[in-house]
Order: sequence, then C-alpha cells, then structure tokens
Amino acid sequence: MDHDSVNTGRRRFLVRATSVVGAAGVVGASVPFVGSWFPSAKARAAGAPVKINVSKIEPGQQMIAEWRGQPVFILRRTPEILSRLGGLIGELADPASHDSAQPGYVDPALRSIRPEIVLLVGICTHLGCSPTFRPDVAPVDLGKDWIGGYFCPCHGSRYDLAGRVYKSQPAPLNLPVPPHSYESDSVIVIGIDQENA
Ligand code: FES
Repeated sequence: MDHDSVNTGRRRFLVRATSVVGAAGVVGASVPFVGSWFPSAKARAAGAPVKINVSKIEPGQQMIAEWRGQPVFILRRTPEILSRLGGLIGELADPASHDSAQPGYVDPALRSIRPEIVLLVGICTHLGCSPTFRPDVAPVDLGKDWIGGYFCPCHGSRYDLAGRVYKSQPAPLNLPVPPHSYESDSVIVIGIDQENA
C-alpha cells in the first residue's frame, strides 16, 4: 500500500472516529445515564474508568461508549446471534482469541463475561478505521453469506458479532475486548477488571 492510500485511510478514520464519538453522544442523550458517573473529559482521556448503564440496550442493538479516547461497542446479543457464533470456528482467523487482545476472565470464544453482552474496542486491527455494525443477514452489499457482524469500510475486513476476524482479511486479529466488570446487573465499568472471575 502506498503512502497516499495509508494517509487516505487515516483521514477516513479520523472522520469516522469523530462520527462514532458523535454517535455516542446521541445514545447518551437518549439513555438516562447519571451524569455524576462520568469523570471529566480530561480524566477520561487519561484512562479513568467509565461506567455504562446497559439496561436500555435492546436485544440485537448496540451502543457506543468512549474509553481512553476510543469507541467501545457494547452489543446485546440475542439467542439467535449466539447460536450462529458457534458455527463459525473454521472460518475465523483466531476463533479462541489466542493471539488477540482480551482479558483472561472472558469466555475465549464468546469473548464476554455474560454471553449476551459483549464489549469491543471499535478500531480495526488492520489500519485503525472504525468498523460498521451490520447485524442484518444477507444484505445486498455484503452478500448472501453474511450472517451479521462488523464490516470495516476502509479495506473490507469482516468480523463476526464477537469481534472475531474471518480468515484471509486485511485485519490480522480480532477486535480487542477492553478490561471491564459488572458493578450490578445493569452497570458495567470499562477500565476495571472483573474480580473473582
Ligand atoms: S483499516 Fe483496513 S480493513 Fe479496517
């Protein structure tokens, strides 16, 4: 890849990152988070933990949080989504995440503490674009074999709904799972590891 195309990819990432953070603001406006839960912007940029109320995320939908200046996808998976994940092992580059970034206390394949809620750093492991959430099955633009996942618009990398990258994609690794823990059934803290897991 030449220098210009890399720069083009970076520019797209910056534009997309701005869009993603904007989307987080939209979600935040529609979900009644408690304002005092959130540290200042300066503290967030420095890596302060972020508390997220996930109770308003509908099955099959995701919200986007911001942690350490990065988008974090928080997806509530349906039983149908979970059942499809099990059939993909042979199609994935790192199905059990041996080489990909994730905490030791998450399920290695589902990549989550609880099956239904998965958290993923929304930055493509190829050159850093932000993948799009495409839960639709067999859409015209992605083809009849698409069962829902994340699609990176920059160079076409495909991930499943556990953030696991398919084989032979530009991206070499799965989307990272950030450290996180459950403070209660509905509140997740991003940036603090789950204890006793
Ligand atoms: S940045 Fe190249 S495929 Fe995502």
